[in-house]
Amino acid sequence: MKIRLLKKKDIEKIMEIIKEWKKESSIISWDKRKKVEEVLRRSPKTCWVVEINKKIIGFRLVIDDIQNRAWARLTVISKKYRRKGIGSLLIREVDRKLKKMGFRKVYAQTSYKNIASINWHLKSGYRKVTLLRDWYKKGRHGILFIKNLD
Ligand SMILES: CC(C)(COP(=O)(O)OP(=O)(O)OC[C@H]1O[C@@H](n2cnc3c(N)ncnc32)[C@H](O)[C@@H]1OP(=O)(O)O)[C@@H](O)C(=O)NCCC(=O)NCCS
Repeated sequence: MKIRLLKKKDIEKIMEIIKEWKKESSIISWDKRKKVEEVLRRSPKTCWVVEINKKIIGFRLVIDDIQNRAWARLTVISKKYRRKGIGSLLIREVDRKLKKMGFRKVYAQTSYKNIASINWHLKSGYRKVTLLRDWYKKGRHGILFIKNLD
């Protein structure tokens, strides 16, 4: 397994993984390729993919935000590779790299109904900060998580 920086030529595969996830979740707003391209253009040093035998099976997009803060925008592990510890390895490795780059905090948000994601964040050292009322759309709240990297 290898974690490496996302490249522009990987976006096609990222869109396939998002499309697969879209079948499970009704609140994804990431189906536009332009949105992924925009994150990569803004933050080329903080967007990552996980590969197994050179095949991309997941990714973590992080924005280089203000004042040493990183903002984790989207992470997806392809369905057949989940619950094998890969998401945990990815989030911890990316956090380690972000710390090395000088970031002090990572922010993330997830749906209040996404139990897998909530548990995954908590298990990875993130703490719940607040409920983001109507974050995704009316009645679909988010949860804000923060991890201090020091
Ligand atoms: C959230 C996600 C990235 C986790 O990746 P993963 O590789 O499956 O995670 P891991 O195998 O490392 O699991 C770590 C912990 O997360 C929690 N978890 C993961 N899947 C879970 C599930 N289906 N139900 C409940 N808890 C779950 C558990 O606490 C798990 O630890 P455990 O296996 O010791 O019980 C993955 O489920 C995913 O891609 N989901 C779809 C996209 C998404 O929701 N992204 C997050 C919002 S940005």
